[in-house]
Amino acid sequence: GGVSLIGVPTDVGAGSLGARMGPEALRVAGIAQAIAQFGLDVKDCGNLSGPANPGQPAVNGFRHLPEVVQWNQTLHDAMYAELSAGRLPIMLGGDHCLGIGSISAVARHCRDTGKKLRVLWFDAHADFNTATLTPSGNIHGMPVACLCGHGPQELIEIGGHVPAIKPKDIRQIGIRSVDEGEKRLVHDMGIEVFDMRYIDEMGMRHAMELALALIDSNTHLHVSLDVDFLDPTIAPGVGTTVRGGPTYREAQLCMEMIADTGRLASLDVVELNPALDERNRTAELAVDLIESLFGKSTLMRKA
Ligand code: ARG
Ligand code: MN
Ligand code: MN
Ligand code: MN
Repeated sequence: GGVSLIGVPTDVGAGSLGARMGPEALRVAGIAQAIAQFGLDVKDCGNLSGPANPGQPAVNGFRHLPEVVQWNQTLHDAMYAELSAGRLPIMLGGDHCLGIGSISAVARHCRDTGKKLRVLWFDAHADFNTATLTPSGNIHGMPVACLCGHGPQELIEIGGHVPAIKPKDIRQIGIRSVDEGEKRLVHDMGIEVFDMRYIDEMGMRHAMELALALIDSNTHLHVSLDVDFLDPTIAPGVGTTVRGGPTYREAQLCMEMIADTGRLASLDVVELNPALDERNRTAELAVDLIESLFGKSTLMRKA
């Protein structure tokens, strides 16, 4: 099995325009070469296509629902095909509404193959809004709720099973911005969250040890990396910056600890907005972190 890059050039789920350019910025920053250096066979599937961003206000609590559904259905199919072929897909977003199509395909693949799913959701935000709770109507603030079965029928049933995942399958890391009503839902659903307060007090190493607990040889590990997880001083190229995020070293440690499990089986890189970036530095940082995720280390590691 090799690695497949799937570009999804859209920002229909976001409040600002520009994440549609994310896939190209990651390619320009050398994502394919960065992964190929480990001897992996990298196939760039190119970009998926879908509807333009209509730039409309919310209808019944959702902005661009039909367009979000279409992009996610197309992504689900592409991601599921790569997983079925035994490959490790990397979804190059695009905004985080695409986590719905990506992770519903991963969950379906886990049901096919009898694997246990673990999703690590790296983000400044919980992305657990619903039509009534959302302050913006932007669906990139709703993917985790949709995956857990809270959302419009067309989005929650994309992977053919509702809910696509259970709250116990997911761990959130780096969270520091949760809307008022969203807080209650995250709490009531019992999502395990390592927020910035936890990371400040206990350290990233401890947070990651717990987030990776009970992963075994039968686990499919999916990483959903919203680039706004990172502190905006090192990652300015995102639409929804929130100060007080992880440092470069903390982010590297996360990726290295995941690599050490040997269980990484799929990845999303989302919310990169080249229109807001400085000389592609946020894309280059994302590629740097992905190298660690695929096992780059300073010294030889014990087997
Ligand atoms: N909580 C805010 C909202 O729902 C921001 C969500 C940001 N999400 C993201 N994937 N960047 O509008
Ligand atoms: Mn598999
Ligand atoms: Mn997000
Ligand atoms: Mn975010």
